[in-house]
Amino acid sequence: MVADAQNYSLEEMDRQSFFHPTTSIAEHLRDGPTIIAGGTGVRLRDRRGRELIDCGAGLWCVNVGYGRAELGDAAARAMAELGYYHTFSAYSNEPIIRLADRLLTLFREKAGVPGLARVFFGTSGSDANDTNFKLVRYYNNLRGRPQKKKIIARLGAYHGLTYAAGSLTGIAAFHRAFDLPVAGVLHTACPHFYRFARPGENEAAFTDRLIADLEALIAREGPDTIAAFIAEPVMGTGGALVPPKDYFARVGRLLAEHDILLIADEVITGFGRTGVWFASALYGLQPDLVTLAKGLTSAYFPLSASLVGERIWSVLREASPHSGPVMHGFTYSGHPVGGAVAMANLDIIENEQMVENAAQMGPYLRQCLRQRIGDHPFVGDIRGEGLMIGVEFVADKQTRRFFAPDSQPQRLVARNAFDEGLLVRALGFTDTVSFSPPLCIGPAEIDEAVERFARALARTMPELSRLAR
Ligand SMILES: Cc1ncc(COP(=O)(O)O)c(C=O)c1O
Repeated sequence: MVADAQNYSLEEMDRQSFFHPTTSIAEHLRDGPTIIAGGTGVRLRDRRGRELIDCGAGLWCVNVGYGRAELGDAAARAMAELGYYHTFSAYSNEPIIRLADRLLTLFREKAGVPGLARVFFGTSGSDANDTNFKLVRYYNNLRGRPQKKKIIARLGAYHGLTYAAGSLTGIAAFHRAFDLPVAGVLHTACPHFYRFARPGENEAAFTDRLIADLEALIAREGPDTIAAFIAEPVMGTGGALVPPKDYFARVGRLLAEHDILLIADEVITGFGRTGVWFASALYGLQPDLVTLAKGLTSAYFPLSASLVGERIWSVLREASPHSGPVMHGFTYSGHPVGGAVAMANLDIIENEQMVENAAQMGPYLRQCLRQRIGDHPFVGDIRGEGLMIGVEFVADKQTRRFFAPDSQPQRLVARNAFDEGLLVRALGFTDTVSFSPPLCIGPAEIDEAVERFARALARTMPELSRLAR
């Protein structure tokens, strides 16, 4: 209001003052921001009163949907009780203690991973991955193997954008400007059959090749230099990429053979996104470290967690009398308000059976997309697990020729989808748009979203045809 009164609009104030993350400065200065004013369930409205179905759930994170007053109430109670106190030097608070206990129990029971010992808290998926990166080093330093430090990630992976996490991320666009990745991070092939299989290669042969590449990388670098392998069970930003059958079982065997730790990055897949509580369960992963964020609070409060396995924890614990305090942590580690919001959020997910709903609505959304746009000449692949779905574009469906690099067909479609009142995310690594709506979405909303998407695709047809030539 003050801005308007001064004849200086909020849009203009944003343009002149706000440095936006992952945004083109030139485009922001030209087009200004989209100011989101509110939301309920799966719907948002912007400041101009436009209604949008959010099939992104923000950045894959608003699992319970918008406008859940219980989360605000939980935050208000926690703030009134204890706005903040730190958790360094063993200070603690009740909400975060209860959350740590609940997370270990949930992951042990729902993911079938018994050997998890402790939870370390941060405020973002990136910092949780930095924590895991450092714990891997600490573990090997304590074990007297300082040369065993390298971490293998995959091309197309997204693990965040801080210095270490940004290095683990396997997408060149995030590296170029910042001289990343740092030394000690390696990337192996992306397990996306539709796009990266060679002509004539079936899925089994493709998986054989991925495993052979990984084995060769480990041999080339020397197994005694490789500390860990990090993976999203289903890759998100890479394009909602579902791994080929047996891929993770075979990766697991290789890691065990060479004493290499497994970090499961469940920042997107955690808390029901794939139709189960944690996607580690889908592929039988037995991680030594787990990264959680996003759905932990449905993004109503910035909170992340690193679950630390017994294998690492026992080394830290036994060394502790001699090694001194673990010199790692953040001002907001173990924030009481985050703990309270996460507990209320987990209550909603459980009480309203949102994981079960994702398990039903995911296949329904995929089926609707296949029926409505599956025959479209530029829609190549529709895939996913639960409510984590990708639609990948292809320039020639028969020969599986992809669009030229940088032509970005998915951005054109996503922009037209916005004009139709639908938010989907344009993912650059594989010319994919993703659908990852809040887990509370129902069939009528899915029908509406798919209809809006089909209209957007029809409107983009001339540009796609031109780009496909
Ligand atoms: C799998 C995965 N890991 C880590 C991150 C980083 O999380 P944040 O943006 O909270 O730092 C993301 C964010 O999208 C993610 O998708």
